[in-house]
Amino acid sequence: MTTSAADIHQIVNGLSAPQKQISPKYFYDARGSKLFDDITRLPEYYLTYAELGIMWDNIAEIVELVGKQASLIEFGSGSSLKTRILLEHLSELAAYVPVDISEEHLHASANQIRDEFPHVDVLPVVADFTQEFSLPAPMVMPVRNIVYFPGSTIGNFECEIAIGLLRVMHHEAGKGGALLIGVDLQKDPAVIEKAYNDSAGVTAQFNLNMLQRLNRDYGANFDVNAFTHSANYDQDKSRVVIKLVSQADQTFEIGDTAFDIAAGETILTEYSHKYTLDGFAAMARTAGFAVEKVWTDAKRLFSVQFLTRL
Ligand code: TRP
Repeated sequence: MTTSAADIHQIVNGLSAPQKQISPKYFYDARGSKLFDDITRLPEYYLTYAELGIMWDNIAEIVELVGKQASLIEFGSGSSLKTRILLEHLSELAAYVPVDISEEHLHASANQIRDEFPHVDVLPVVADFTQEFSLPAPMVMPVRNIVYFPGSTIGNFECEIAIGLLRVMHHEAGKGGALLIGVDLQKDPAVIEKAYNDSAGVTAQFNLNMLQRLNRDYGANFDVNAFTHSANYDQDKSRVVIKLVSQADQTFEIGDTAFDIAAGETILTEYSHKYTLDGFAAMARTAGFAVEKVWTDAKRLFSVQFLTRL
């Protein structure tokens, strides 16, 4: 782990804003990644089981649409079960290219994929995928690029930024390319709120872990026990707002910058946007994609979508 001055600057800036905030990128240290993994197995967290079910139920059609000799470019490190379903069924892949900002995480998961799929040309790329990056040249010339972005991670970005990210995917897909993406859908707010307020308290631990991480790696001194987790669905903006709530008037420091926070005041840590099929299609179109195919589960909780370049 490298603590950069730019990161500290970003953290101090976010905590200086009228609505205090910390970037979700600080969730994922070793403990945070483990806790997130636990979240994906919670009974309330419908996103993962719904998406996995959709993948299993429609894998033949997905394989058909991806076609032969494609290069599969995953935005994110690709440690998931969903990636494995694809790699198991896409028997004639030109290459698998996981892209992640965390080099350590990326290489560990790339090596694991190599062990499990020895016939696949695994070409990890260390990059911040919110910006365009260059793709490696596989041993076999790919027929087309298929960008893969599961988990409705797109929903963790605000609309403009999400469109920017879709534009990067459009660029990386290149001529004849496509995007396979997981998109969470609007539904009964009670179901959504439960997914982010599980009864075992894992999501709370995950959210609070961010403060522990800032204490350990970024010279902060948060009293972790003086904050609680909160996640509420904002119907107007169709998003879950995930925050840490200060339980007292208190002071904390990041290095030598001190901050006051009042009892009840919050630190925003993440949004998770939920979409209608039409709303997402409109966003995709703005970024240059047409929706070619949408798969959903029987309860219409979640969707997996295949988008082609306009
Ligand atoms: N991509 C996940 C989501 O939006 C991230 C997530 C799940 C999350 N649970 C969380 C982020 C709790 C912060 C807090 O569903």
